[in-house]
Amino acid sequence: MGFIIILVEKRKKLYEGKAKVVYETEDPNKVILLFKDSASAFDGVKRADVEGKGVINNTISSILFEILEREGVKTHYIEKISDREMLVWKAERFPVEVVVRNVATGSIVRRLGVREGTEFSPPLVEFFMKSDELHDPPVCEAHIVLLKLAPPEAVSLMKETAVKVNGILSGIFAKAGIKLVDFKLEFGKLPDGSVAVVDEITPDSMRLWDMKTGERLDKDRFRFDLGELMEGYKEVLKRLSGS
Ligand code: CDP
Repeated sequence: MGFIIILVEKRKKLYEGKAKVVYETEDPNKVILLFKDSASAFDGVKRADVEGKGVINNTISSILFEILEREGVKTHYIEKISDREMLVWKAERFPVEVVVRNVATGSIVRRLGVREGTEFSPPLVEFFMKSDELHDPPVCEAHIVLLKLAPPEAVSLMKETAVKVNGILSGIFAKAGIKLVDFKLEFGKLPDGSVAVVDEITPDSMRLWDMKTGERLDKDRFRFDLGELMEGYKEVLKRLSGS
């Protein structure tokens, strides 16, 4: 009598965040990112389950990482391996958020009194320290070096890469009739020692405005109850796929 052996791949969870889970693989240099169906804002104070968000964010992030890789930007992306998972190089993530702004909105308006809608040309690049406890305070290059948030030589590289990514993504979104208002990138060191863009690139970490109507197609829909979140994200994916 024969019997079937079912091999269940047991993957160890390395980390679980608000929107993603990180799993180890057989290769110590590679990990899997799983995108969850959850939305959060305001340091996790506002949360909700949003069906289908993980699949759509994994798809959008994969498309954008593939474009960046083609354009010669070093990233942690290897490949999309399922509807809600991507395989990436394991990175030592720097606790820094790099924000690029083309138009003033959000925290820069609140912090510095810049008038909402002011265009920045050249784009403004800002650094924030990743810390829920301190509510991600703005930091300058000297703070990054002093607090050892990232290697000193990585600071100018992060800035230059962020500007390059802004140029590429602004063009991609413009073709889709969408204004890239601002976005956040994270960086880290890959197993080969290089500094690369890590984490995700999704409407959770960008502001995307319809060029004609000004409709918000990003996470501000969730933050400020501007409309059903998934409708905006689906529209972004539809237009990216079509352009
Ligand atoms: O979102 P908020 O107004 O508090 O902050 P911001 O500094 O105006 O955010 C600038 C851009 O970075 C927006 O596209 C945010 O979605 C993104 N961001 C992010 O993805 N994660 C953060 N922790 C902070 C900002």
